[in-house]
Amino acid sequence: MPVATAVAHPNIALCKYWGKRDRALNLPSVGSLSLTLAPFSTTTTVEWGADFDELVLNGRTGTAAEASKVFGLLDLIDSWRPRVRVLTENDFPTAAGLASSSSGFAALALAATTAAGQKRSAEELSTLARRGSGSAARSIFGGWSEWKLGEREDGLDSYAFEIAPQDHWDVRMIVAIFDAGPKSISSRDGMLHTQQTSPYYPAWVQSAPRDLAEARSAIRNRDLAALGTVMERSALRMHACMMAADPAVLYWKSGSLWAQETVRMLRDQGIPCAWTMDAGPNVKVLVPAAHAGVVAARLARVAEQVHVLEPGGPARIVG
Ligand code: PMV
Repeated sequence: MPVATAVAHPNIALCKYWGKRDRALNLPSVGSLSLTLAPFSTTTTVEWGADFDELVLNGRTGTAAEASKVFGLLDLIDSWRPRVRVLTENDFPTAAGLASSSSGFAALALAATTAAGQKRSAEELSTLARRGSGSAARSIFGGWSEWKLGEREDGLDSYAFEIAPQDHWDVRMIVAIFDAGPKSISSRDGMLHTQQTSPYYPAWVQSAPRDLAEARSAIRNRDLAALGTVMERSALRMHACMMAADPAVLYWKSGSLWAQETVRMLRDQGIPCAWTMDAGPNVKVLVPAAHAGVVAARLARVAEQVHVLEPGGPARIVG
């Protein structure tokens, strides 16, 4: 029976994706840009040919909703596929705004196509992973990557590409966890609700291209002050847009605000760093490697857990 195991790392967006122009195809309303991060990873084994479809996620049977997303992606790989067994493990908290779906669907796309005997290009894998979870399009690549908005209605030009490799810039992303439990509302539901009810949504979509252009050039020039300005602006605008939804989508907790304030204080003390937040209360801080220890120690005063992550490599087959 053909079996393949793939590993992928999660990515954290510096310019955010929030909102879809096509829900069925998972096509975004804005382009986005991210950093893939190690050592957090998802390891996924796919057995292409089993007695029945089975999903085991972190040692437990997947829920019906999880299984429908996973097996839905496998149907796109081969509509005549056999029954398949999928075993997947995250070595970090699942569904807490730590991008477990980004590494999960990237590892699944690679392991499943390999087990099915298909050889796909990185762009094709990214397009496929996107159908499982938008942010997964970016985790096919290591280092700094951008997910193109694309123009085609079939979505075949909406995939990610690497803008700078893993070793381009010696930075760290410090993840300060204020709540490791599952998020209050999934990003899928949160973005749909925002799009349908927030009066700020058109402004969010309109402002995104400038953020992307500035972030690309800041990354190219390894300019943390410039990148920090764009990162915080993109995160704040995305959250402002959600907070203006009706009713509001509000992921922040008191710890989130404390971490943002701490980053501003560290910056005033001459330490270059900037924060971002996703669909959860946890705060991620980008900092040059040389300053990571000081920033992590400061965040550890209040956060439940602090993890220091570094630029990671692309999704890959390991067995
Ligand atoms: O693709 P999803 O459903 O994991 O949504 C990701 C949404 C954010 O993490 C908030 C932003 C992003 O670009 O990753």
